[in-house]
Amino acid sequence: MTRSIRPLVAGNWKMNGLKADLAISAEVAKGYDSELKASVDLAICPPASLLYVASAALVGSRIATGGQDCSPQASGAFTGEISAAMLADAGASFVIVGHSERRTLHGETSTLVKAKAQAAQKALLVPIVCVGETRDEREAGKALAVVKKQLRGSVPEGSGAATLVVAYEPVWAIGTGLTPTVADVADMHEAIRAELGRLLGKAAASGVRLLYGGSVKPSNAAELMSVAHVDGALVGGASLKAEEFLAIARACA
Ligand code: PGA
Repeated sequence: MTRSIRPLVAGNWKMNGLKADLAISAEVAKGYDSELKASVDLAICPPASLLYVASAALVGSRIATGGQDCSPQASGAFTGEISAAMLADAGASFVIVGHSERRTLHGETSTLVKAKAQAAQKALLVPIVCVGETRDEREAGKALAVVKKQLRGSVPEGSGAATLVVAYEPVWAIGTGLTPTVADVADMHEAIRAELGRLLGKAAASGVRLLYGGSVKPSNAAELMSVAHVDGALVGGASLKAEEFLAIARACA
């Protein structure tokens, strides 16, 4: 953790969640007690179909919501796309961009991710820009270089602590139960902070929240959160269980 930074735990529901699953966010809100509120921010990123109603239900809970992707375009003839302004209008404060599932399954490049992050910032959403290496890249000793390159390509110039969150998610750790060693997370997060310093200036970079994501669970959260420059978590699978999500939040608090 970085002492001066308030941690953020964000839940990425991915393509999971029907109306009945709003019970999960309701239960998270119930468990977000004053002690947790004093020390950790929470955000839930449900599927777009639930965003408006989830956001409305969470008003007053101090739990933020976010989208999982947005269009780089502001509006127009882009069938199936959702603009950042639409997400903001539905109550979102954040939007995940450049998740590895989008980079891999939808061929999203860092150039596109940056355009999405810029569109988000224009709509006053905070983009959670995801970066991370594949297993092959890690085994080839290229993890740091790959992630730095993704950052240079994906992070909008002029971003700062209030307008950017970065999530380091090793692709091979997502949904697999595998996590990098604490030493590898420490090296990567230090390198990310340094690269952001080069891109944004040291002062701006020093306040940006750097989340770790990839198989975060109640059993490993405290250890991961103890690492320098890990300022919270981006949680997939475990965010679909209120008790697990809250346990991770407590580990960050
Ligand atoms: P996981 O997913 O926690 O299920 O590994 C993390 C993510 O993809 O954001």
